[in-house]
Amino acid sequence: MKIAMLGPVGVGKGTQIQRISERLNYTRLATGDLVRRHIEAGTELGRELKDYYERGEPVPDDVVMELVRPNLNPAGAWILDGFPRTMAQVHALDEELEKRSISLDKVIILEGPNDEELIERITSGRRQSLATGRVYHTEYDPPPEPGEGRDPGPFVQRDDDKEEALRRELEAYREEAEKIKEYYDEQGILAVVNADQDVPEVTEDIIEALGYPEERAPRA
Ligand code: AP5
Repeated sequence: MKIAMLGPVGVGKGTQIQRISERLNYTRLATGDLVRRHIEAGTELGRELKDYYERGEPVPDDVVMELVRPNLNPAGAWILDGFPRTMAQVHALDEELEKRSISLDKVIILEGPNDEELIERITSGRRQSLATGRVYHTEYDPPPEPGEGRDPGPFVQRDDDKEEALRRELEAYREEAEKIKEYYDEQGILAVVNADQDVPEVTEDIIEALGYPEERAPRA
């Protein structure tokens, strides 16, 4: 299956995709991670993207497409995380998929919490593991204890986890979200899932919206 998962910052896209991709053996393709990788590696592109990222502003569509293009494996099963998030990206993605004779099977939009609740989720305790990239919350989805051996951490805050940047990101999201929703609804591939529930309940609703796909064999 080829899936895109969208929704405002903090709604739980990363949290859900890491669970679903592990359970079904799908590849997660997160544009935010691709941007962060360039910034952390200090590439020329990374230096260009740092300001957008830290301000919570969308990076230019053509740059996003450059990052995504090599990863759209026609034979794979993948979930796009936070992409496409503008109508220009929607159309550019359609073009890329058409070239590969494939299409999206499902677009999941996570919705529910209001802006203040989304900001609270992040500023009150989001942590990301430097070892695995997994997202946690100190209260709602705590990182494992060191002895458990699941994820050694360390668990740190992201550089863009600041209220001002989050508000900018929410504003940019709202400008495009309704058009994107309508577009995929017209194509008959949209499912809206209530993200205002505990993490495991959201996961089950997503699996149901995907039609209970079969688990894929682990990659060799
Ligand atoms: P990106 O990294 O994609 O961030 P985002 O979309 O802003 O989303 P987040 O990762 O911040 O939130 P999330 O929905 O994944 O929530 P999470 O699971 O972490 O983008 C960052 C930047 O990169 C952008 O600002 C832009 O500059 C650039 N960029 C990326 N893609 C782009 C694109 N396509 N076009 C242009 N620019 C792009 O959960 C949040 C917290 O809540 C966690 O602590 C989690 O544990 C907790 N939580 C999750 N679910 C629940 C729940 N059900 N109940 C309680 N707590 C929960």
